[in-house]
Amino acid sequence: MIYIRNASQVITVSGASSVPKRGSEMEQLHLIEGGGVVVEDSLIVFVGKDEEARRYVEHHAKDKELTVISADGKIVTPGLVDPHTHVVFAGSREFEFNLRLQGATYMDILNAGGGILYSTGKTREADEQQLFAETEKRLDRFLAHGVTTVEAKSGYGLRLEDEIKQLQVARRLDHAHPIDLVSTFMGAHAVPAEYKSDPEAFVRIVIEEMIPAVSQAELAEFCDVFCEEGVFTVDQSRRILEAGCKWGLKPKIHADEMVSFGGAELAAEIGAVSADHLLHASEAGIRAMAETGVVAVLLPGTAFFLMAKPADARKMIEAGVPVALATDRNPGSSPTESLPFIMNLACLTMKMTPAEVLTACTINAAHAIGRADRIGSIEVGKQGDLVLFDAPNYMYLQYHYAVNLVDTVIKKGIPVIRSGRRVDS
Ligand code: NIG
Ligand code: FE
Repeated sequence: MIYIRNASQVITVSGASSVPKRGSEMEQLHLIEGGGVVVEDSLIVFVGKDEEARRYVEHHAKDKELTVISADGKIVTPGLVDPHTHVVFAGSREFEFNLRLQGATYMDILNAGGGILYSTGKTREADEQQLFAETEKRLDRFLAHGVTTVEAKSGYGLRLEDEIKQLQVARRLDHAHPIDLVSTFMGAHAVPAEYKSDPEAFVRIVIEEMIPAVSQAELAEFCDVFCEEGVFTVDQSRRILEAGCKWGLKPKIHADEMVSFGGAELAAEIGAVSADHLLHASEAGIRAMAETGVVAVLLPGTAFFLMAKPADARKMIEAGVPVALATDRNPGSSPTESLPFIMNLACLTMKMTPAEVLTACTINAAHAIGRADRIGSIEVGKQGDLVLFDAPNYMYLQYHYAVNLVDTVIKKGIPVIRSGRRVDS
């Protein structure tokens, strides 16, 4: 049994496990001043005022091994959830960053055979062991920043064997690493060089070969597509996501990132679980997403790193779209594992409030990956995934920006980070 005692605030984000929070609900953190949390085995068994938590422990801890963790002067939040990453890949692209600083655009680089296609080459060359080792290091950094669950997309294989290799590495790491990984098949991340002259033939391979194989091997829960001018059209994206649905892969979509393209509308039309990026989402697309309850996964770190104007979070929240936030961790447009810094950027560049940001990285993020029944809030019966931040209140977390304030991370009831350092397992 673990008793986290006397937190200055316990940010429960409770009451939204069945539907994500929207509009002014995103401000409701249901926090407890002077709170305590008790975790037994892997689950939360008590959350409330610290005096009551102490009494609970006195009654229930007899004969049990008890670890008391003091949260004096600190806040406790749900383990952070990152609902959009491309974390499994080989290599890095710092030389492209340098080119972009000199004026090249992200799409120029991709169209010239670099970008995603460069990382595809590196990922194809890498064996499973190398991919595992590179990804494990990234997950260690995520954990140190308070992230306890990440979604992980394939999409740097762009041919069956290498897409499977990426998904297999994600599955192995889900077992081997404290972080839980939720897998998404994204074979339609770019048109590989060998199909440049016939993208439609590649779309058919994704639909007819890759999706059935990934589904039969039970290697992914979601299917995603880069619906963008010069990548996959709205019609191709629709066919790919519909094929995914047929094979039990729930739809997600990279939508309206570079231009207004009808991605948000498509997300609403097919009932996508989430639509992500949305920098250029149309008014009609935003309205349609609100009506159908598609979660908007916003990626302000990507906009920042590509030096672009971020998505209009305020407009989406006002329209009633449930908003989540993610790192988009990938080698090209977002090479960071700091979800807390993305939270800072959400405030500083999109004017989300500190409370909205916490909702967006916990319960709404859990909804974006179909896990809100288990994670994303501090409620009895939920998984014991918790973070102690060295902050006197939740607002301080966004104010003291760009540094890591994580003190302790508890994953499934086991302390994995203490005083900011990994606990030896
Ligand atoms: O979400 N936009 C498409 N895909 C990724 C970038 C992948 C890469 O550049 O390697 C994204 O930003
Ligand atoms: Fe992405």
